[in-house]
Order: sequence, then C-alpha cells, then structure tokens
Amino acid sequence: MLRDGEVFEDDHLPDPIVGRNRHMNEVTDALAPIEDGFRAENCFLFGPSGVGKTTVAKAAVRELRREVLDVPYAYVNCWRDYTRNGVLDQVARGLLNAAIPPSPSTSRLIDLIKSNLHGPGVVILDEADQIRGTEVLYDLHEIRGLSWIGIANREVDLFADLDDRITSRISIAYRVRFDTYGDDTITEILSRRAREGLGPNAVTEDVLARIARLSEGDARQAVTTLRVAVQMAGREGLSGIPARLVDDAVDGAKHEVRQKTISKLNTHQRALYEVLVEEDKLIQKELYARYEEAHDDPVTLRYLRESHLPKLEHYNLIEVEWDKGTKRYSLVGSDHSGSSPEEH
Ligand SMILES: Nc1ncnc2c1ncn2[C@@H]1O[C@H](COP(=O)(O)OP(=O)(O)OP(=O)(O)O)[C@@H](O)[C@H]1O
Ligand SMILES: [Mg+2]
Repeated sequence: MLRDGEVFEDDHLPDPIVGRNRHMNEVTDALAPIEDGFRAENCFLFGPSGVGKTTVAKAAVRELRREVLDVPYAYVNCWRDYTRNGVLDQVARGLLNAAIPPSPSTSRLIDLIKSNLHGPGVVILDEADQIRGTEVLYDLHEIRGLSWIGIANREVDLFADLDDRITSRISIAYRVRFDTYGDDTITEILSRRAREGLGPNAVTEDVLARIARLSEGDARQAVTTLRVAVQMAGREGLSGIPARLVDDAVDGAKHEVRQKTISKLNTHQRALYEVLVEEDKLIQKELYARYEEAHDDPVTLRYLRESHLPKLEHYNLIEVEWDKGTKRYSLVGSDHSGSSPEEH
C-alpha cells in the first residue's frame, strides 16, 4: 500500500502548500525586497502546534530561491541551538560557503558572516522562543542584508525578554498569526499525501475525513495518524485502511507525537518533566524546588515560567489548573493525573 514513505516524514515539504495562501503571501511579501537586491523585512509567525508555521516559512524561502537563485539561507532550530553562539554558528554554516573553524568565538562568527555575506540573506529562526537571551537578535540586525523569519508559539514568548528600546530597533514589519486548520483543509492535506504516498484505493475520503475530524486542526497529528493507520493495515495484510482502524491509529499517533516531543526536550524541560513523573499536581514553588534539586545548572524561576513551562504546555505535555489562585502542574495523559482528555 505504501508507495513513497518519504511523504510521511516530518521534514517532508509539500508542494504546493494547501490552505495557507494568505500566510504564504504575507511571508513572500516580506521577502520580496530580496528580489531587487535589498534586505527583506523581518517577519514573525506564531500560533499553536501543527498548524504549518515551519512549513510555510520553508516554503516561502523555497519560492524565493526559485526566483532568486541561491539566496543565502540558513535554518536554525533554536530549541536545539539556543545559545547566542549556537544560533550564530548555525547561521554561519547555513549562509556561507566559507569553511567555519571548529568552536569559533561569537565575535569570530559575526566577523565571518559580515565579511562573507555580499547581498541579502535570510534566516529562519524556528522555535525562537527558546533562544536564551536576546543579544543574538541584535547581532543579526547588525549584519547588513540579513533578515529573519522568527517562529514561536505565542507572540509574548519572543518578546518577553525584549525591552521597548530593543523591539523598536529590531523592527518586525510582518506578524502572521496561524490558527488551527478546519477539518476540510486537513482532509485536503491528507488526500494529497495519500495520492503521493499510497497506492490507488488505499484510503477512502470518508476515512480521511474521520482522521481529520479527530485531529482537531493539527496537521502533524493528522499526517502521523494516516501513516500509523497504513502500518496497522499493512500488519493485517490489507491493501486499504478500514474505518475500524482509525481510532487506534489516532491513539498510536498521539503516543508517537508525544514521544518525539519528549525526545526534543532540553535538560531543563526534561528535569521538569521527570519531576512531574515522580509527583503530580505540584504548585509552581514546589515544582521549582524539585527542579532546582534535580538540575546541576538551574535557571531562575522567572525563566522557567517564561520559557520552559510554556513550551511543555504548548506541546501538550503538561497541563495547568488553577487552585485557590495558584497554578498546579500535572502531566497530560499520565497515570497520576487521573483522567486526561487525550486518553479517552
Ligand atoms: N498546509 C499544509 N499543507 C500540507 N502539509 C502541511 C500543511 N501544514 C502542515 N502540514 C504538515 O503538518 C506537519 C506539521 O506542520 P509544521 O511543522 O509546519 O507545524 P508547526 O506549526 O511548525 O508546528 P510546531 O509549533 O509544533 O512546530 C508537517 O508534517 C507538515 O508537512
Ligand atoms: Mg514548527
């Protein structure tokens, strides 16, 4: 049944992008000055998980590079590379053909980029809310010709640390908000994947519509469900996906998406997660005290509150409830939290 597994991979970039014309247009408008040799406008994409932010940013750059061949471009996953030096290192490696020495200092990296970038270039700062400190945004701003597309879950997360003086210098002309997809758009996204990746008659529109409905506007969940359903049907020796497999495929996909997210957690987020595996329903002070014991180099409570806890919440790993004016934290879907929406 599976003809091309690549179309179900996480980093598969579909062509064309379905149901995001307005978003695509806004990002391509921001990038348009590059076609005339100028620096683009910075832009900033935000919205919930699985709604196409990373996809739209990459597709807009792909479109630009079809118009203006070889515009220097770097993609930085700031969840993985979150320090000033780490971000600049990825920027330099992406943008430049020049050799990058091992473990370069931050100032060396900035010099390298400045002296080797001749004309406009663009950087995608994905998961930009995970960047530690904001100097790197200045650094990028000081590099002539360079503009960025920042991606975060909530607008406040990126700007929490920036004071107004800084925000006005790092002008962000375009802010593009993403909402969850409607069921019809998800069905269309799935239908294209099925056409590209599966044999004929592998899945009916009804089954796709059902997967879409159960994915609650999250395209990652939907695409993963389709792939899991293909595997389940394959194990039964079937050449198509029967409707009866959908519910189990949804649960399997939720589990898979969650495991993948857990594997991406940084040490602070992992320590928090593990504290909550041990004991649930902690108030912020208790959670912080346990985390501080568990981590060798703990961040401040404020930083935890602004950067790490929202990330865990955004990816639906933890949930927060208010209890007499205090927040209590639990794991989503853990045995400890009793009933969880996603296990039912
Ligand atoms: N409009 C679309 N057309 C086709 N596929 C899409 C579309 N939007 C999202 N997808 C697919 O859904 C998955 C998730 O999309 P994407 O990674 O862009 O989400 P995101 O908004 O960046 O989520 P997160 O905040 O979790 O990083 C990807 O596999 C992507 O290919
Ligand atoms: Mg993303």
